[in-house]
Amino acid sequence: MLEALTPQPQDKILQLIALYRDDPRAQKIDLGVGVYKDATGLTPVMRAVKAAEKSLWERETTKTYTGLAGEPAYNAALTGMILGAGFADRAASIATPGGTGAIRQALELIRLANPEAKVWLSNPTWPNHPSIIKYLGMKMAEYRYFDAATRGVDFEGLKADLASVAKGDVVLLHGCCHNPTGANPTAAQWAELADILSARGAIPFIDLAYQGFGDGLEEDAAATRLIAARFPEVLIAASCSKNFGIYRERTGILIALTEPARKAVVQGNLNFLNRQNYSFPPDHGARLVTMILEDAALTADWKAELEEVRRNMLTLRRALAEELRRATNSDRYDFIAHHRGMFSRIGLSEAQVIALREKHGIYMVGDSRINIAGLNAATVPVLAAAIAAVGD
Ligand code: LMR
Repeated sequence: MLEALTPQPQDKILQLIALYRDDPRAQKIDLGVGVYKDATGLTPVMRAVKAAEKSLWERETTKTYTGLAGEPAYNAALTGMILGAGFADRAASIATPGGTGAIRQALELIRLANPEAKVWLSNPTWPNHPSIIKYLGMKMAEYRYFDAATRGVDFEGLKADLASVAKGDVVLLHGCCHNPTGANPTAAQWAELADILSARGAIPFIDLAYQGFGDGLEEDAAATRLIAARFPEVLIAASCSKNFGIYRERTGILIALTEPARKAVVQGNLNFLNRQNYSFPPDHGARLVTMILEDAALTADWKAELEEVRRNMLTLRRALAEELRRATNSDRYDFIAHHRGMFSRIGLSEAQVIALREKHGIYMVGDSRINIAGLNAATVPVLAAAIAAVGD
């Protein structure tokens, strides 16, 4: 049987991890996979997470199964963090293994409800979006998103493409901190986008993997909240990997907003999908998140550390834009300071990306997406000089 298998294409982001690891050069710089690193290159366990883990170790008396949909307290606390109050009667939810698990379950829910549904993706988007959709045999389409000249949102192109969305189509949106570009709609553009989707009868599906990494925890939820308030049905796949720094714990949530009368059936279908795919979702990370969100002191400490992380990335953005001004004697990279989140697509050719890797030991995704958090004060000028050296 297994002889029928053929090699799968390598994930372009994960592939970089191995390439970087195998590079013997001491001065190499990793701007690949989206993992936060502090100035020393460490991905720290956040203080509140450590404190919650200690207290969990002391208090936990059993490892028996928890709820099939996840612990209700986790689902309630995280839904509150994302949406604010007032959605309890509309929000069905399941805990999932990370944000990827939530995306996969959302797509399976869509397929269960409407096997013919078409899912619209921004061009570009996180490569795992189209990969999972293709694997599930679902239909997909793209809408324009990124203006390669300005490195901002191509809002006219986006509007023109979303005008042909059919009733019942699903439109996948990055709630904040667009991955891979770093370019995001303004508040006014989000409102206009909501008008268009509402007029088309589309179902918004929001991927929220970086809440707290852009303009702030509340600010980064604003677009999601706007859409949640306006549409009868919304899917939200959220991740705690980045904002709680618990990548390997696989902690996410899928929220399906529906009409109150339909909530029980939707919840039953979500539970069914968990049961079919892995039974009970992982609990450790979800429990830590719940403990943090339910304890005022831990919440305050976590928010303070998250804010520090966010500010560090903003500082690096400004420093890089400034260094590039100097190194290239132009303002063409100023957009880096205006982008938000971990990533910026900086607009280099594939040949330049390869030259940066081979000649300078600088690793970024092939589309020239850089992870800002992979930089520090010392490597910012090194990157700027290398970009200037490979010609821009
Ligand atoms: C990324 O885009 O680098 C992150 O979301 C990590 C991943 O799984 O790809």
